[in-house]
Amino acid sequence: MSFVTRTLAAAFLALPLATQANANCDAGETKVVMSIVTALQGHPKGETALALADRVNSQMNGRMCMEVYGNSELYNDIDVFQAMLDGKVQMAAPSLSRFSAYTQKLQMFDLPFLFDDPIHAMDFLATDAAKSLKNEVRPAGFVGMGFWTNGMRQISATRPLRKPADVAGLTFRVQPSDILEAQFRLLGADPKRLAFSKVYDALASGEVQGQQNTWSNIYTKDFHTVQSGVTESNHSYLGYLVVMPQAFLDSLNPTDREEFIGLFELTTHEYNRFAFETNQLRRQDILDEEVMVVRLTDEEKQAWRDAFAPLYDQFSGVIGQDLIDAARNAKQK
Ligand code: SIN
Repeated sequence: MSFVTRTLAAAFLALPLATQANANCDAGETKVVMSIVTALQGHPKGETALALADRVNSQMNGRMCMEVYGNSELYNDIDVFQAMLDGKVQMAAPSLSRFSAYTQKLQMFDLPFLFDDPIHAMDFLATDAAKSLKNEVRPAGFVGMGFWTNGMRQISATRPLRKPADVAGLTFRVQPSDILEAQFRLLGADPKRLAFSKVYDALASGEVQGQQNTWSNIYTKDFHTVQSGVTESNHSYLGYLVVMPQAFLDSLNPTDREEFIGLFELTTHEYNRFAFETNQLRRQDILDEEVMVVRLTDEEKQAWRDAFAPLYDQFSGVIGQDLIDAARNAKQK
């Protein structure tokens, strides 16, 4: 382990340790079930969810309890919205690319090279323009609780990808976002929408030849084991909007609701800061397995930037140029 990796690991271990996925909820306690599609341990979303559950279970004991189910054990990222409205699940953190049924605006995070790094994305998420995006899910019966961070997407495939033309002719798994589809079409590749739970099998069987994801998603789902390599493109931001059904929040007594929201905000603030480190650790795990990681020169990265540039003209109308400008301006100089 390198010095940097050891330092990052130590920083992560300094966090309050989340210990268990599921509490034994007692009779009389109001239960929050959270369904997520990613791994729990060693993953930015999983660790944040576990930490929140630990806090609710210890600090609200006797009034509220929380259980977290990972790895799509309960619902996949398509069914979870209806499951929340049906009262089967009270919390989920779908990726921002998953909200296209409710709003086109959240797709802005899929625009390649809009954000330089997760810090830039988090600086934007702290602005009033981004906070107002949480309200986009209200008409559908959800409350946007807050944003959780994962990291930047990398591209992997069955052949090394160094320049945009290398993806031509391959089929890439995408999340349900028009921008992600257009991104691959622009380069002569075929996009295929698939739930996260189906990606490993689709890569292993050859149904798709590539995908794009964060280091933590790639490592914890073993995608790297069925790909020739991963290109360190850092080309777009993958984060989450945590949502709860409005009807559930309204049913809580005001004291419990306020305390639960307070624990949510504290945990969000504390754990978002560690998402970058967690991804760097999973990147190192991939390197330790001697998977080929293609590092791009500045000129090569510029070629990907140029190749994706037409997406801005294509999608600025549906997203709103004001939001795109606000994202660019959020970069701390
Ligand atoms: C997630 O991080 O929740 C899923 C990402 C994906 O579908 O690729």
